[in-house]
Amino acid sequence: MYIFKSSLATCVAVLGCLLNALPVTGALVPRDDAGDVESSTTVYQFPNPTWLENLAVRSNGEILVTVINPADLYKVDVRRTPATATLLYSFTGLNTTTGITEVTPDVFAVVVGNYSLATGTVTPRSFSVWEVDLRSHEPAISKIADLPEAALLNGMTTLSSRKGTILISDSGLGVVWRLNTRTGEYAVVLDDKTTRPVPGAELQIGINGIRRLRDYLYFVNLGRALFCRVRIDLQTGTAIGPYEIIATGLVGDDFDITKDGTAYVTGVISNVVWRVTPDGTVTVVAGNLTGPTSAQFGRTKDKNTLYVVTSGAMITPDPINVTFAEGGKVVALETD
Ligand SMILES: *[C@@H]1O[C@H](CO)[C@@H](O)[C@H](O)[C@H]1NC(C)=O
Ligand SMILES: *[C@@H]1O[C@H](CO)[C@@H](O)[C@H](O)[C@H]1NC(C)=O
Ligand SMILES: *[C@@H]1O[C@H](CO)[C@@H](O)[C@H](O)[C@H]1NC(C)=O
Ligand SMILES: *[C@@H]1O[C@H](CO)[C@@H](O)[C@H](O)[C@H]1NC(C)=O
Repeated sequence: MYIFKSSLATCVAVLGCLLNALPVTGALVPRDDAGDVESSTTVYQFPNPTWLENLAVRSNGEILVTVINPADLYKVDVRRTPATATLLYSFTGLNTTTGITEVTPDVFAVVVGNYSLATGTVTPRSFSVWEVDLRSHEPAISKIADLPEAALLNGMTTLSSRKGTILISDSGLGVVWRLNTRTGEYAVVLDDKTTRPVPGAELQIGINGIRRLRDYLYFVNLGRALFCRVRIDLQTGTAIGPYEIIATGLVGDDFDITKDGTAYVTGVISNVVWRVTPDGTVTVVAGNLTGPTSAQFGRTKDKNTLYVVTSGAMITPDPINVTFAEGGKVVALETD
């Protein structure tokens, strides 16, 4: 029953999928029995429906939040009580924003495309990556590149600030693209069984959230319910080591990772946040979240606060029938 009441977070997750297409063993069940569950506080809630997909914390403490349908980018000022949300930009002619990463101080890259929550379909060749420069009072927003060969651009992380390179997961193709934000040059740099969707599965979703920690790329594969890492060349983004499976049985979306390699993965179907330690131990640290889609730690005096964004959406046994339960939230989770 819990399975059917669960939310599927990533835009991707409602791509006409059937829940039974997922690897079920253990994956769809919240592991409420383990771990020190922290209480979470809602910092800001958007109107219903608003599907929050990803976030990036600015050095000043504000949080940038991407939205699916419409393609809106908000800034949430969590320094105020109560927090406030301001629409920073609405991408016209497109209706989805997904991954976001800070490339250089206060200059962000954002994925934009055409994806419909209602029908679960992507418009082919519709994805592009944009720059959002917040160094001046007025945001400067411009397109970096179209990536027409991409199927479903999703998570994003910075490869090299110095070179202006980023990595972007393509959940549909099950690969990782490298994009040079200065030249617009892009290429597939990672492609492995652990990044691809399960062949023939109804849910054609592979790699999802990605984060770089030093010379490792950590990633979630949603369809395979894996949390993995691979050592990469920091110039090219290509693999220079084996693809390592750290944990299995968790259907995750995006995540954050601390300097010691502890990940906080949003459990998109179980409505929890899992802590995954480097040795692969998985514990629930927060539950009862409505469709957690991504997480990132604060960067100012709130360094121990994990900010989690939620879709607010519930999915019924009919995978196309998404019933919005509540507006997406920014939730603060205290860790130490
Ligand atoms: C998003 O854009 C696609 C392509 O135009 C369209 O099919 C879909 O209805 C749109 N969805 C929403 C919710 O705007
Ligand atoms: C996105 O969808 C809109 C509305 O259907 C359409 O006008 C636009 O051309 C699409 N853009 C891309 C890049 O597919
Ligand atoms: C969810 O809420 C229920 C009822 O308040 C509580 O018993 C349960 O422990 C919570 N689960 C988690 C993982 O927080
Ligand atoms: C969607 O699911 C809800 C809850 O199960 C149901 O009441 C509603 O009729 C469904 N809508 C459609 C269009 O199937």
